[in-house]
Amino acid sequence: MEGLQAVIPAAGIGTRLKPHTHTLPKALLQVAGKPILGYILDEITGLGIRRVVLVTGFFAEKVEQYAERAYPELEFRFVRQTEQLGLGHAVWTALNVSRDLGSLIILGDTIVEADLAGMLENPDNVICVAPTDDPGRFGIVSLEGERIIGMVEKPKDPPSNLAIVGIYLIRDSEKLYQKLGGNIEAGVRTRGEFQLTDALAAMLAEGERFAPWRIANWFDCGKPETLLQTNRALLEARAYDKRELPSHCVIIEPSFLGEGVDVRNSVIGPYASVGDGARINGSIVRDSLIGSGAELVNVQLDRSIVGAGSRLRGGFDRINIGEDTAIDLGGR
Ligand code: UTP
Repeated sequence: MEGLQAVIPAAGIGTRLKPHTHTLPKALLQVAGKPILGYILDEITGLGIRRVVLVTGFFAEKVEQYAERAYPELEFRFVRQTEQLGLGHAVWTALNVSRDLGSLIILGDTIVEADLAGMLENPDNVICVAPTDDPGRFGIVSLEGERIIGMVEKPKDPPSNLAIVGIYLIRDSEKLYQKLGGNIEAGVRTRGEFQLTDALAAMLAEGERFAPWRIANWFDCGKPETLLQTNRALLEARAYDKRELPSHCVIIEPSFLGEGVDVRNSVIGPYASVGDGARINGSIVRDSLIGSGAELVNVQLDRSIVGAGSRLRGGFDRINIGEDTAIDLGGR
């Protein structure tokens, strides 16, 4: 796509996904067998965009190495955001080094199922939106016909239920850079952070045109529950890759098993994603994300996330009871 660069802010701390983000940046957490960033870069590749400005902070080298190794066809410009001062600051940091093209900004923790090619045909700025039940948690837009006439970050009194989902098409990157820079210089923060929404609202107030683009499916990866939910949705959408498995195993679809996974005497799925080289023996694992090289022995897991290389050993209950007894060992 001529005339456009992708900007991916992926420098955030990922507090809500600790302990996983203690050792891995959020963008590299795997869902349904692929890092979140992989889904975003696949989308960008499909759109024909070549230049990608990637803003990194925590574990910057890991993000940069993954991007270069897995997507050699893309032209990366890596930028470090050393202090996490907010999304607006992250985008400013990116535009500070590259702003001669229009920018398609995609947050580093946002996976969508949407017609982004259709969105790029709009000559105006475009903001992707989707209805939400919880408008106080997001940037919210108000519309007049098919034009955005207001934007506000995490409003107490929401003007609509249309949330900004983390994808923005900005035609004039220089203008956004100037607005963000002005806010940073003047110390204009909302909830303690330099917000992208504040700069976009200022552009809107000066007469820039913004159109909404409705997103069919939006997969949030920001917290454990939504990461698991996203894993389920992506597994549903994918054809199951049948492969030879050792005996005494049942794989319940949809599930994903990476390369070299060693499963014995176990029931895997539904909704289990198991990373490369994981070893599972004598276990039941459903609705869970199991990292590469993890080792599970005699465990029953549901709605769980196990980091790469972790080892978990459970056991079986041993009981000796007579007739007409009722015992509930559950609790899940
Ligand atoms: P979030 O608001 O979800 O923040 O950022 P976070 O740090 O990733 O996660 P929590 O809230 O601590 O759990 C949305 C996107 O903006 C990027 C993040 O990397 C994420 O992709 N971001 C946010 C930055 O790049 N820099 C920032 O200063 C803030």
